[in-house]
Amino acid sequence: MPTPPLNPHLPFGENKNADWYGKDILSVKQFSRDDLQYIFGVAHEMRGMVERIGTFDLLKGKILANLFYEPSTRTSSSFTAAMERLGGSVIPISEVKYSSVSKGESLPDTIRTLECYADVIVLRHPETGSAAIAAKAAKKPVINAGDGVGEHPTQALLDTFTIAEELGRLDNLTVTMLGDLKYGRTVHSLARLLSQFSGIKLNYVSPDILKMPKEVMAEVAEKGVPQAEFSSLEKVLPETDVLYVTRVQKERFEDPADYEKVKGAYVIDPEIMKAAKQDMIVMHPLPRVGEISPEFDDDPRAAYFRQMEYGLYVRMAVLAMVLGKA
Ligand code: CP
Repeated sequence: MPTPPLNPHLPFGENKNADWYGKDILSVKQFSRDDLQYIFGVAHEMRGMVERIGTFDLLKGKILANLFYEPSTRTSSSFTAAMERLGGSVIPISEVKYSSVSKGESLPDTIRTLECYADVIVLRHPETGSAAIAAKAAKKPVINAGDGVGEHPTQALLDTFTIAEELGRLDNLTVTMLGDLKYGRTVHSLARLLSQFSGIKLNYVSPDILKMPKEVMAEVAEKGVPQAEFSSLEKVLPETDVLYVTRVQKERFEDPADYEKVKGAYVIDPEIMKAAKQDMIVMHPLPRVGEISPEFDDDPRAAYFRQMEYGLYVRMAVLAMVLGKA
């Protein structure tokens, strides 16, 4: 894997001919295998720099607008940390009720406002397609940090980076996605991204009302990836290399009674995990609300806290790329 050049001593100026300069990051459909290899190479560089010197001036003078219409801990704070580790600064808008959004300002107008002050905009919004609307309004790059039940592309990038780092490969894997596959945008993005690799098999385990959407399955099927749906984990756990657990997304249910029926449907604990391989990993985009018992946290297969740290390096890479510094 070629190591991309990074020069922390050149804070000003950017390479406007770089492939990703000025690009929006809206969907995992934008990324080829080669792109992933490149991003992961930059993320490795970022990790090395953070471990060696902590903070450096690659994006000194650059400003990120972090615009969150929905709650976030990891995505919001990791983009902030990524920008600050790279020497840039952040306009945080995580309580839109205190912004002019509460006066009725439209998303395109809010985006046009922020790009007057910032070089890149990270957006989380409850509506599918909102990131594309924002990108259309903006001249500066927009990064989709989750658009309703649509996509969460930087989460899928960090998820694949986690798998590659932890298991040493992205080919020939059986990946089992568990929980809320209907509303979970992270699994929609991850299934699409993994479908580029060979020897991938995807198992979907969910309650009947929370199945993987047919349109995602159809896209994955087009790539020739075998997929199978189950209501119980028992049958597929022994063959699983990556168990990707998700939270049942209470906030997306129209009828609270439906949520009550399916919450707590699956709980991963040390007893259940006796049936799994030793050389597999358990991932979760987090937050968790009971679907993984804390008693499992000390198991070496529990990769979900390491997964968050990988996210910092991937988001540093993405920011450097769209700002012409990688
Ligand atoms: N994984 C993830 O998107 O977490 P947050 O909702 O805390 O950002």
